[in-house]
Amino acid sequence: MDAQLDTLRTEALAAITAAADETALEQLRVRFLGQSGTITAVSKGMKDVSKEDKPRLGKLLNDVRTAVTAALDARKAALQGDADAAAFAGIDVTLPGTASKLGTLHPITQLLDRTIAIFRRMGFALADGPDIETEWHCFDALNTPPDHPARNEQDTFYFADGRLLRTHTSTVQIRTMEKTAPPIRIIAPGAAYRRDEIDATHLAQFTQMEGLYVAEGVSVADLKGTLEFFFRELFGNDAQFRFRPHFFPFTEPSYEVDIKAAVLGTGSAGGGKWLEIAGCGMVDPAVFEQINTKRGDTAFDPEKFTGFAFGFGLDRLAMILSGTPDIRYFTDNDQRFLAQF
Ligand code: DAH
Repeated sequence: MDAQLDTLRTEALAAITAAADETALEQLRVRFLGQSGTITAVSKGMKDVSKEDKPRLGKLLNDVRTAVTAALDARKAALQGDADAAAFAGIDVTLPGTASKLGTLHPITQLLDRTIAIFRRMGFALADGPDIETEWHCFDALNTPPDHPARNEQDTFYFADGRLLRTHTSTVQIRTMEKTAPPIRIIAPGAAYRRDEIDATHLAQFTQMEGLYVAEGVSVADLKGTLEFFFRELFGNDAQFRFRPHFFPFTEPSYEVDIKAAVLGTGSAGGGKWLEIAGCGMVDPAVFEQINTKRGDTAFDPEKFTGFAFGFGLDRLAMILSGTPDIRYFTDNDQRFLAQF
């Protein structure tokens, strides 16, 4: 039996070394170690071996089985290595790889993030509202009469059920006051929609930033301080401001904000001209009354609370800051444009 095992080992190791592929190797494994394999057969015969031969033959059998198993593993690894080498043949794996280009945030998103960060420092929280709005939230609650041009079919996207794509983010002032009592200090960025002819300075969908601050004792001084701080952060400390009296239905008094700053001296903004950048004002008490009626309480008592509101277009600011001459570049999705930011 010693000799039989020795021969078996020699034969098995030679066959394994000569195996040409994984299929041949698998056949060898079955032939030697499988259920009716030769080594298995020998181990079954161990029960007939005499008592004194058993330990020695048992150890030898184990050695042979271990050696054959190791040889099978080694040959398998070698075959795999050959296959890998064949696959890599002709490929220089030391050449540098193809780097994937990292994208950047859209210029309007970048400005949005900066804007939010600046207002956060002044304690403004983010608020939100739906793009598809009721006429009440978009107009009535904002003290905008039925014959106001903003409500015109020609200027506004109405749905069959009477709702509409919000024409401004001022709707979020209303949404916020409906569910929160003063003090309120929020900003609300988002999309606004108008039936505008699309050209270099108009899109049918654009991005606005709304702000609302309601508390006791809020004054025009707070409004001016807040907006001037914000725009100085954006355009530099040399920025000059003009709060030009204007009319908005939902604020009284109302202003348009004009700015002049060194960074605006060139490019699309034109040389040193005043540039209109925002609308704002003190919340009209009539808006508070609308909210109280809707809420069924007097949380926004106009004798106790005052507030300011403002709104501006982010696309326009992004154009100014990036020197982009045509607003349509922002939506064209052209990599050659976007990759510059
Ligand atoms: N909603 C106005 C617009 O779309 C902008 C605006 C003006 C917002 C004055 C305000 C404000 O909150 O007080 O043109």
